[in-house]
Amino acid sequence: MFLNRDVISIIDFNPQELERLFDEADLMLRALEEGKHLKALEGYVMATAFFEPSTRTKMSFQTAMIRLGGSYIDLPPEEASSRAKGENLADTVRMLDSYADVIVIRHRVEGAARFAAEVATHPVINGGDGTRDHPTQAMIDLYTVRRLHGMINGLVYGVIGDLRYGRAARSFILGLSLFKPKKIYLISPPQLSCKREVIDFLNAKGVKYEEVYSLSEVVSELDVLYVTRIQRERFPDPLEFEKVKGSYKVSFDSLKNSKEKLSVLHPLPRVDELAYDLDNTAHARYFEQAKLGVPVRMALLKLVLKG
Ligand code: NCD
Repeated sequence: MFLNRDVISIIDFNPQELERLFDEADLMLRALEEGKHLKALEGYVMATAFFEPSTRTKMSFQTAMIRLGGSYIDLPPEEASSRAKGENLADTVRMLDSYADVIVIRHRVEGAARFAAEVATHPVINGGDGTRDHPTQAMIDLYTVRRLHGMINGLVYGVIGDLRYGRAARSFILGLSLFKPKKIYLISPPQLSCKREVIDFLNAKGVKYEEVYSLSEVVSELDVLYVTRIQRERFPDPLEFEKVKGSYKVSFDSLKNSKEKLSVLHPLPRVDELAYDLDNTAHARYFEQAKLGVPVRMALLKLVLKG
């Protein structure tokens, strides 16, 4: 099911496979909570090659590998590696492929992970490619929903923010549409609305969705609210960013009509779209979500490397 598989986009997986991954993540989480020292990946090496900034994705992959008894090597930043001498991506990937058993890559160019997977003989995991895919983030997000609500199907979701340039939001929406959500509200200013191909995918899957501009219209219906930052660095034109910056902010006040059990998720990092006054409320689940990155990535590494 997972053995030797590349992990490039969330839509390469079906719900049965994802549930299998989540069952494995449950076992990993239990082992972590019990303080067990696992050895499932003893002797295995993972290479992390991050060509874009990262805190959670890279470090939780590295933690996951160590927690399973494996080790990792990390590509140095540009100025300290041979990229500064003009080495191309294919050659860099070939080298990592010859040192490690699995490669986790993040790159600003869409399609870079798929390209790396074609070059490498070992499995390649996409840690984010430009505005396109972030499959392991979507796995964590869906797993978090399953843990908090006991299911993914049948819930009402709101996804607010930069649905146009945000790969985490995009991957979450695509991931949800593999399941049977009751409804997805796509909440954004018009300039940041979902790309056509995502809407086409939702239609093809027969998912019920609605595009709206403001959270207040729909907040009372939601079970899960997924918040994302505006992806400033992805805007083709900085003036366009100026027009939308600060256009939404989720705060304690904006949730006053929400269900008591509403969970607020965020892939992090946050900038100004998620108020700090939410952090100490029962709605705030984003730090827990980030923490679940470790067991989910442990489960994925184990399944990809050992089946
Ligand atoms: C996201 C990313 O890099 O796409 N971060 C993450 O991996 N948790 C979200 C973002 O940068 O906004």
